[in-house]
Amino acid sequence: MNKKDKDLVSIIRGSVDNSDFTKSVDFDKRLYKQDILSSQAHSLILEKLGILNEKERKKLIESLNIIKEEIESGKFVWKDEYEDLHMNIESRLNEIVGPLSGKLHTGRSRNEQISTDTRMYVKDAIEEIKELIVRLQASLLDISESNSSLIIPGYTHLQRAQPVTLGHHFLAYFHMLERDYERFVRAYHASDVLTLGSGALSGNSFQIDRQFLANELGFTKISQNSLDAVSDRDFVLDFVYASMACMIHLSKLSEELILWSSSEFSFLTIGEKFTTGSSMMPQKRNPDFAELVRGKTGRTIGSLVTISTTLKALPLSYNRDLQEDKEPLFDSFDTLRDSLQIMIGLIQSLTFDDSRINEVINDSFMIATDLADYLVKKGMPFREAYAKVSLELKTIMSTKKSFNDLELKDLKKISKLFEKDVLDLTIEDVVNSRDSIGGTSFSSVSKALKEAKILLKKKKNF
Ligand code: ARG
Repeated sequence: MNKKDKDLVSIIRGSVDNSDFTKSVDFDKRLYKQDILSSQAHSLILEKLGILNEKERKKLIESLNIIKEEIESGKFVWKDEYEDLHMNIESRLNEIVGPLSGKLHTGRSRNEQISTDTRMYVKDAIEEIKELIVRLQASLLDISESNSSLIIPGYTHLQRAQPVTLGHHFLAYFHMLERDYERFVRAYHASDVLTLGSGALSGNSFQIDRQFLANELGFTKISQNSLDAVSDRDFVLDFVYASMACMIHLSKLSEELILWSSSEFSFLTIGEKFTTGSSMMPQKRNPDFAELVRGKTGRTIGSLVTISTTLKALPLSYNRDLQEDKEPLFDSFDTLRDSLQIMIGLIQSLTFDDSRINEVINDSFMIATDLADYLVKKGMPFREAYAKVSLELKTIMSTKKSFNDLELKDLKKISKLFEKDVLDLTIEDVVNSRDSIGGTSFSSVSKALKEAKILLKKKKNF
C-alpha cells in the first residue's frame, strides 16, 4: 500500500488495526457491477457540475470498465486492508488514473453508495427469481396436464379424506408460487428507489440532479428523506421475507414428494438424477435433493431473524450494523435460486405409479362424505346423515375393505333412504361433483389449468 493510501485508510479506520472485524469485502465484492455503474453515473453528474471536464469523465468511466474486466477475469486483487468493495475499487482507480480518482468521491458518501448498490443488486436478483418461479410454475402445470386423469387421495391431518385429481393437487403449489411471485413484485417496488444524492445523512450540497441519476441507473422513484434513505433496509427485509415464504412452499412440496416416494406410500418415483444411492444399503435411493431443499429452508428463516434483529433497535440514520444486512440477503438469494433450479428439474423427473394410487383409492372409504350428501339430497338434515353414516360405517369398515365391496343391504343398515342407485356412485362422480370454482372436478381443474397458463403467458412467452 502506498503512503497516501495508508493515510487515507488510517483516517477511515482509526489507529488500531482491527480490520478483520470491520471488513466486509469478502462478501460485498458481489456488488462490484452495481458499484461501478453507480460510480459511472456519478461521474456524469460531476461533469454536469463542472467538477470534471469531459476528458476526465471519460477517463474515469474507461478506467472503471477496466476494473470491471479485471474483476470478471479474476485478475483483480481484493485487499482486506481496504475494508470494503468501495475502497478496493477506489484504490485501484487511484493506481490507474492517479489523483483524478480522488474527485469521484465528491458529493458522495459510502452510506448512500452501499444503499444504492444493494438496491440495484436486489432488483436484479428479483428478476432472476421471478423467472425461476415462472419456470417452476410451468413445470407444475406440465405434470398436472400429463397426469390429468389420475385421481389421488386428498388428505387432511395426513389421513385419507376425499379424492382429488392430481392436477388439483399440483395446482395448489402453482397458486402458492403465484403469491410468492407477487411478494417479489412488491419487494421490487420497495427496492426501486434511488437513494444517491442523500449524502452521508442530510442531503448533498452540490446540486446533484437526482432525477438524472434515477434515469441513468433505472430507478423509477427517488427517496424523499435523506435520513431514511441511508438507513432504510426495508427492501432487504422484504426480499428476505419473500425468499423465506417461497422456501417454505418448496419445503412443503419437498416433504410431500419425499413421503410419496417412500415404500409406505409408493405413489411416485423421483428421477434418478435427483436421488442418491446409499453407501451401505444397495436397495435404497435417497431423495437427498428434496431433503436438502427442505433442510436449507432453515437458513432462510434464520436470515429473516438476522435482518429483523439487525434493524430493530437502530437509531437514525446510518449505523455500521447495516453492514450485517448483506450476508442474510446473499444467502437467501443463493438458497432460493438454487432450490428453485433443483425443483424445476425434480418436478419434471417425477413418474407416478397409477396402479398403486388406484389401489389406494379403491381400498378406502373416501366416499363417506358423499354417502351423507346422498341422504341429505333425500331430505335428511346433514348432521343426522353424518352421524348415521359415521356410526354404521365403522362397523362396516371392519368387515369390508372398500366402498366397492358394499351391498345395498349394508347401506340400508345406515338408512332406509339408500336405494340401488347409490351403488352406481363412482370415485369419478365424487370428484366431478366438486365442480365449483376452485373445486377438484375434471372440468374445474381443466378450466383452472387453462387460466393458469394464461397467467404464465402474460408474464412470459411460455
Ligand atoms: N461496508 C459498509 C456497509 O455495508 C459500507 C458503508 C460504510 N460507511 C461507513 N460510514 N463506514 O454498510
